[in-house]
Amino acid sequence: MNTPFIDLASQQNRIRSKIEQNIESVLNHGQYIMGPEVAELEDVLSKYVGTQHVVTCGSGTDALLLALMGLKLKPGQGVIVPSFTFTASAEVMPLLGAIPIFAEIDEETYTLNPSRLPDALHSAKEAHIEVVGIMAVGLFGQPAQMDEINAFAQTNGLWVLDDAAQSFGTEYRGRKTGTVANVTCTSFFPAKPLGCYGDGGALFTDNDEIAQIARSARIHGQGVHKYQCDRLGMTARLDTIQAAILLAKLDIFEDELKQRESIANYYHELLSDWVQTPVCHSDMTSSWAIYTLNLPKSVDRKQMQESLGKNGIPTAIYYPIPMHLQKPYERFPRAKFGLEVSERLAQTVLSIPMHPYLKKEAQQTISNAIIDIIKTSDSN
Ligand SMILES: Cc1ncc(COP(=O)(O)O)c(C=O)c1O
Repeated sequence: MNTPFIDLASQQNRIRSKIEQNIESVLNHGQYIMGPEVAELEDVLSKYVGTQHVVTCGSGTDALLLALMGLKLKPGQGVIVPSFTFTASAEVMPLLGAIPIFAEIDEETYTLNPSRLPDALHSAKEAHIEVVGIMAVGLFGQPAQMDEINAFAQTNGLWVLDDAAQSFGTEYRGRKTGTVANVTCTSFFPAKPLGCYGDGGALFTDNDEIAQIARSARIHGQGVHKYQCDRLGMTARLDTIQAAILLAKLDIFEDELKQRESIANYYHELLSDWVQTPVCHSDMTSSWAIYTLNLPKSVDRKQMQESLGKNGIPTAIYYPIPMHLQKPYERFPRAKFGLEVSERLAQTVLSIPMHPYLKKEAQQTISNAIIDIIKTSDSN
């Protein structure tokens, strides 16, 4: 068998003519920077999510940076962030001179563990760091436990930023992701559930000031006219062509999310007797951006990857090293009771093919291959 890890080609076949039509219209009007499709996309996304403001930008990382600028994060201040995440979540604080405080995740859901937040906060206070916010991450597509995180934030006078690069399109307790934090960011990287054909991102907020700062900072801190600056900024606009592509992809996004849900359910049916499949709480939905197994101790992950690879089954490890153990981040504070769960899961997780066009037969082949390896490992 030869199945892609993420199948962008099947998606493109489905909507190719609409994508071509939208790109052609950009070629015709020629407004490659901040063309009408950018405003149209922001309008459509604002209605889809239900936030007052949507600020599109050059990447998910730009969205996080713009959000932190909007939240007025200052050098030396601290932000609590899970250690088990993609680099970008932790990278943006030091880029602004601020400090990521690494916190522990929940064993089952891989998202920030609310009961471990006091540990992170106290550890930062002991290091004389003024903590001002929490970044939750909807890892693998599932929102974090936002009510508990928001309650902790409120008690301690902190803001909450939701990094929904992977969990865009989901719901948390009946509310759309994008509306459950002070500000929410997403990525339109091609492999994301809603991806463009290059880099792109957006932030979502009901806060006028955050939106206004982000809009200005994405264009060099631009003020009332082009060559007057209100603040430091950067080149962080979303290309018009990417907005045009996203508009075409949004037409099928909800349908694709439903497909992902049934594919995840089928994987669970096939695999859950053998290996820990992802747990999604009943009060939220997942975009199933990445389908991650937690392998039993008896399994040699490297060998499993090699053996699946030989059978044409691609796999990936998200993420092999938690952030607090990465060289450039070792100097930042971490929750003092330890990050044992993050460290352990980094050794045992394995992600398998997941996309809306995955066929049942392919899922059966993938699952049988995994089960065979687990059976052999158990008997050794
Ligand atoms: C959790 C998380 N945060 C942030 C990002 C950054 O997004 P981008 O690659 O668009 O900058 C990603 C992208 O992979 C991500 O997975």
